[in-house]
Amino acid sequence: MHKDIEEIRFSTDMIVRRIREIGKLITQDYKNSKDLLFVGILKGSFVFAADIIRAVDLDCDIDFMEASSYGAGTESRGVVEIKKDVTLPVENRDIIVLEDIVDTGNTLLSVKKLLLAKGARSIKICSLFDKPSRRVVEMDVDYYGFKIGNEFIVGYGLDYAEKYRNLPYVGIHKPEVYENKD
Ligand code: IMP
Ligand code: MG
Repeated sequence: MHKDIEEIRFSTDMIVRRIREIGKLITQDYKNSKDLLFVGILKGSFVFAADIIRAVDLDCDIDFMEASSYGAGTESRGVVEIKKDVTLPVENRDIIVLEDIVDTGNTLLSVKKLLLAKGARSIKICSLFDKPSRRVVEMDVDYYGFKIGNEFIVGYGLDYAEKYRNLPYVGIHKPEVYENKD
C-alpha cells in the first residue's frame, strides 16, 4: 500500500466487479440505441472510462471533455471551467457522461448544459462514486458504482493535488497528508 494511504476502501477487485455489473446494465438499456457516445470527464474519469467501455458490449464512440471545479485542495470552488470541449459530433446522439465522482454536482450541471446546447438526444450520467450528501445542485446519477459519505478518496483516477491517480485501489489519506499541504 502507498505510504500516504491510511485505509483501502475499495479494492481493485471490488471496483472491477462493480464496473462489469454497470457495463451489463448499460448494454441492456442501450441495446436499441444506434448512436451511443461516451463522454469522459478528464482527468479523473480516464481509468474508469477505460474499464467501462470494455464492459459494454455495444458499438459506441468515446470522446473526452476536461472540466475542473477544484483547486489544488479538497473543496470545490463552485466555478466550473471547461478546459477542453468534445471534438466528435453530439447532435441527436445518446450520450453517457462518465465521471469519477459526483460531489456538489456543479461540474456535471455545466457539462450537461453544454451537451444539451449542442443538441444531444439524451444524456445519462455514469459515475464510479457518488457523494449525495454533498450536492448543492440537483443532479441524478443514473449509473453509479458506489455511494460514499462526506469523505475525500483518492486512487483509480481520483487525485489529491494531481497525485495518487495511478493507485489501483481507492483509499483514504492519512490526515497528515492534508495538514502538511494546507
Ligand atoms: P463537483 O463539481 O463538486 O461535483 O466535483 C466533481 C469533481 O470534484 C470530481 O470530478 C473530482 O475531480 C473532484 N472530487 C470530488 N470529490 C472528490 C474526492 O473525494 N476525491 C477526489 N476528487 C474529488
Ligand atoms: Mg479532480
